[in-house]
Amino acid sequence: MTLLAVENLVVKYGNIQALHGINFHVNPGEIVTLIGANGAGKTTSLYAITRLPPPEAPRVVSGDILFEGNSILKTPPSTVVKDLKLALVPEGRHIFGNLTVMENLVLATYARDQKIDFSKEYQRIFDLFPRLAERKDQRSESLSGGEQQMLAVGRALMTGCTFLLLDEPSMGLAPVLKYDLFRTLKRLNEEGMTILLIEQNANLALHLAHRGYVLDTGEIVAEGTAEKLLGNPEVKKAYLGG
Ligand SMILES: Nc1ncnc2c1ncn2[C@@H]1O[C@H](COP(=O)(O)OP(=O)(O)OP(=O)(O)O)[C@@H](O)[C@H]1O
Ligand SMILES: [Mg+2]
Repeated sequence: MTLLAVENLVVKYGNIQALHGINFHVNPGEIVTLIGANGAGKTTSLYAITRLPPPEAPRVVSGDILFEGNSILKTPPSTVVKDLKLALVPEGRHIFGNLTVMENLVLATYARDQKIDFSKEYQRIFDLFPRLAERKDQRSESLSGGEQQMLAVGRALMTGCTFLLLDEPSMGLAPVLKYDLFRTLKRLNEEGMTILLIEQNANLALHLAHRGYVLDTGEIVAEGTAEKLLGNPEVKKAYLGG
């Protein structure tokens, strides 16, 4: 069964229409990418799904968002995290700078049963990101941008999610860290994690994802397997540098 289905979704901020009736879906165990230029509506699509964090919540005017076949438009954001096991790594990271790496990870378990022994899960994150292990007791604001991005992913994992939604995780990372992060995402996916990846770096995203959608000013203009999109002349011209 389809895990997540976005159907004819129309979203507005005030009177500005950000999404013009888009459709996309994610199957369990897939990596799906949504690519597009600045202002295309990528972040809006994610916030419509998670509504976390809600600075200026985009308003769904029509259409639906289905999770395992059921509409989640009326599901409170806290339930989205707790019951649907879906976690967002937001644009710009939003980690707590005055807390240590470890404290950020511990805090992420807030919605979970505190009787669980999380030690194996913390260890798994430190295995995935050895740099974080070395900096466990360091204040997060003193981490480099790339390390903060790793922490943001680690924190999402500590919610106990099975479906990870990432908003431009490669932003601001040096190439070597980008590739590291994408390798880690691949590994997580091989261990069973479903991933929806928002990216401006179409080349990188399509080399990781199974399928993709191209978003242009609030509309899906191309879709298909990653292989098909990589070979699509228009996608090549507009998003892959020729
Ligand atoms: N809080 C807001 N209030 C009004 N308009 C908004 C708001 N947030 C986004 N928009 C508008 O909605 C459209 C889609 O924005 P969105 O942030 O989803 O784009 P994006 O694809 O994530 O872009 P980027 O790659 O720059 O992050 C843009 O035209 C943007 O100006
Ligand atoms: Mg964005």
